[in-house]
Amino acid sequence: MKVLIVGGGGREHAIAMSVKKSSKVSKLYCAPGNAGIAQIAECEPIGVMEFDKLVAFAKEKEIDLTIVGPDDPLAAGAVDAFEAAGLRVFGPRKNAAILEGSKAFSKDLMKKYGIPTAAYENFDDPEKALAYLETASFPIVLKADGLALGKGVLICQTKEEAIEGVKSIMQDKKFGSAGNRMVIEEFMTGREVSVLSFVDGKTIRIMSSAQDHKRAGDGDTGLNTGGMGTFSPSPFYTKEIDEICHKEIFQKTVDAMRSEGREFKGIIFFGLMLTKDGPKVLEYNARFGDPEAQVVLPRMKNDIIDVIDACIDGTLDKIDVTFEDNAAVCVVLASDGYPVSYQKGYPITGFEAFDGKDDYFCFHAGTAEKDGQIVTNGGRVLGITALGDTLKKAREKAYEATEWISFENKYMRHDIGKAIDQA
Ligand code: AMP
Ligand code: GLY
Repeated sequence: MKVLIVGGGGREHAIAMSVKKSSKVSKLYCAPGNAGIAQIAECEPIGVMEFDKLVAFAKEKEIDLTIVGPDDPLAAGAVDAFEAAGLRVFGPRKNAAILEGSKAFSKDLMKKYGIPTAAYENFDDPEKALAYLETASFPIVLKADGLALGKGVLICQTKEEAIEGVKSIMQDKKFGSAGNRMVIEEFMTGREVSVLSFVDGKTIRIMSSAQDHKRAGDGDTGLNTGGMGTFSPSPFYTKEIDEICHKEIFQKTVDAMRSEGREFKGIIFFGLMLTKDGPKVLEYNARFGDPEAQVVLPRMKNDIIDVIDACIDGTLDKIDVTFEDNAAVCVVLASDGYPVSYQKGYPITGFEAFDGKDDYFCFHAGTAEKDGQIVTNGGRVLGITALGDTLKKAREKAYEATEWISFENKYMRHDIGKAIDQA
């Protein structure tokens, strides 16, 4: 079969690598892709929001299955556009992608169906939000309602900071129209875990757990980023916690979406916090995590096409999704200055060191080809993943492999997976 992947980041490179392994796939396309994906797929320079062009391309190439990677096209109805053209596509429709697309929606859903999450209030009037802060306790968390590249969350230690935060989100529109509404919620403490799952509308199959490192600097300092590195599995996500999540969170979420007439087919990514009162939902995403996909997918035993087909056809109850009994660590190589401002266009060398090594992966995120050379083309440039028998071994190997790659303003965190030492 012929498969098209929509997207062009590290996550899509990881998805492409998994799809490429399937014996069912004869031809792989990606739009727009990147320089790494181009080594295993034919890339077409169509943007992820150009639905008409994407659909026309899928028709022209007689694509059998399209997989939509990023949040923006999902929230804007990419899946609906493909379905309307009679094309087979994997991902939630617009009315279900709202689970990620609106934090106010997802908070209301959790409240209505008794899914554990932080206490909160929604606001669409900045004056009311400011008045609420007068009696609130601090620290407190402010969230822009809409999609904001994973950056629309402010943790405010004091009332003064929170007042500034409300103004910047709702009045100065720091995150654009994502800030027309906002959620103000209770600050929770605990360990964070990402749990990704496949969903067919009724049945949910959980993938192996992972943990991201969102802050730019070592020791969780600096600004929030899209994610600086991940490991999988999380030793903090125990069997006991898994049982609670299955009972209190996972199936309840799928059932809630169905009850709302928003049947969810695709990936639900549960951002969880393991608090002293049990696991609670920090946020939902309606797609694979980036860079969670880069540590979870290389460990999956199933043919990804079988699982995706089962999601689309509503037969996920017929299959098990299983993972290798090993571990993976991904260290992001970024451009120094990310997430604020950084230079692009520097030549990258050292890729050949990965050739022929099954347990090392060099996922491209922000790269491009220029005059026959691969150059940096974004904040997050590469995701270096290594597999190992243990998390410690995987971490050692991933950091070893970060040394194989060179480019001018290479930046990384040096403590990805350090938390596992406390497990
Ligand atoms: P989100 O995009 O909702 O995952 O938020 C980004 C990050 O902000 C999360 O990964 C947490 O580290 C932090 N965060 C979000 N909500 C809360 C909360 N209610 N309490 C504490 N930290 C939070
Ligand atoms: N790594 C977090 C995300 O994909 O949202």
